[in-house]
Amino acid sequence: MSAKRESIHGQWSNRWIFILAATGSAVGLGNIWKFPYITGENGGGAFVLVYLLCIAAIGIPIMMAEVLLGRRGRQSPINTMKTLAREEGRSGAWSLLGWSGVVAGFLILSYYSVIAGWALAYVLNAGSGAFTDAPAAEIQGIFTALVASPGQLIFWHSLFMLMTMLVVARGVKKGLEVAIRFLMPALLVLLLIMVGYAINSGEFVRGLSFLFTPDFSKISAEGVLIAMGHAFFTLSLGMGAIMIYGSYMPKNASIAKTSIIVALADTGVALLAGMAIFPIVFANSLEPGSGPGLIFQTLPIAFGSMPGGHFFGAVFFILLVLAAWSSAISLIEPAVAWLVENKAWTRVKASVYCGFATWLMGLGTVLSFNEWSAYTLWGKNFFDLLDFLTSNIMLPLGGLFIALFAAWVMKSSSTANELTLAESGMAYTSWRFLVRFVTPVAVIIVFLNAIGVV
Ligand code: TRP
Repeated sequence: MSAKRESIHGQWSNRWIFILAATGSAVGLGNIWKFPYITGENGGGAFVLVYLLCIAAIGIPIMMAEVLLGRRGRQSPINTMKTLAREEGRSGAWSLLGWSGVVAGFLILSYYSVIAGWALAYVLNAGSGAFTDAPAAEIQGIFTALVASPGQLIFWHSLFMLMTMLVVARGVKKGLEVAIRFLMPALLVLLLIMVGYAINSGEFVRGLSFLFTPDFSKISAEGVLIAMGHAFFTLSLGMGAIMIYGSYMPKNASIAKTSIIVALADTGVALLAGMAIFPIVFANSLEPGSGPGLIFQTLPIAFGSMPGGHFFGAVFFILLVLAAWSSAISLIEPAVAWLVENKAWTRVKASVYCGFATWLMGLGTVLSFNEWSAYTLWGKNFFDLLDFLTSNIMLPLGGLFIALFAAWVMKSSSTANELTLAESGMAYTSWRFLVRFVTPVAVIIVFLNAIGVV
């Protein structure tokens, strides 16, 4: 019966569009802004290694599970979980998994939009030549001035939320397909140019060794949790974003292959970003652990001193905004789809309400960088807390339950059929082993480790 189910929201034109859309969701601020700064804060190589292991052993299997649930259910994650649980004779309470995803997506987008706003502001800065020949200290000053101004942050945050809701209101398919065909390749080319600059003018070898020489004395239990949380964040897993994109996926596409392609592309972009940024950090005696402002304080140095940097700088930040845009859409799509399905709202109405609520929540993040910066809990301000709660707790928990559902609740005949893999073949048995045992155990151990139990 699942084979006949169709999404009321439409379907991707073909498998490549799914790959582009999922890559568009995965590749975003997480790769270019967050990965470098948390790698810097957590000591480099060992952190990167744990992160890569988590992508391979947890991320890819869970991505396959999420896509398969979505494609089988063909509805918003809340209704998909309810339908599939009933089909397997289980309680409709599994729809709670969809609900927690909606909440996580809302919380993440609220701060994601503020950071994307920084990138918007930097398009203007780069384009107006603010970085040209500026010394590192002056470039740091530009960033400090931006985050100190609630008015400016609110302006850019509002603009980014408007852009996001515009696409969501038009429908992900119409709104997204056209944009992402060109965006991803262009971003890749620009990143390669930046790496080229880093090879020529930065401390490239030192940057590489920081990224790839693991020193386990530099990573804490919390660092391991952050690395795992980031594997979920960067692949857009654990909240239903990839599930809903899966629900628009054509029946004949291979879930395993597409998941691996998306994960490789995503990881490649993150590593390239690291290779572009750390050589500049070391060449200018900057602090790798300086926090969320890292790329905004390093890349402009490169743009300020390279030939054509004026142009490349503006283009780079435009592409960063576009990458953030195609990610932001997937954070809110599950909520909007649910409102359309259950409340019979139009997409426009659902987008306006969701967008407004997210915008309002985002003001907390805006203020956490200035007026509220003194208010902290466990040494974390409002933005840090929000990021910690979502990336390191809600997403891994969501992923854990997705794995448990796909591997323990669903019959193996159902999952093998949806993955179009032979039930007794190598590919299927390894996937099932990973989601049944490795993923849940790994997530639980990392949690227990972080709170000091093991
Ligand atoms: N993966 C995106 C990034 O790296 C962010 C993102 C989009 C996301 N959708 C998500 C994160 C769903 C977690 C869950 O920028």
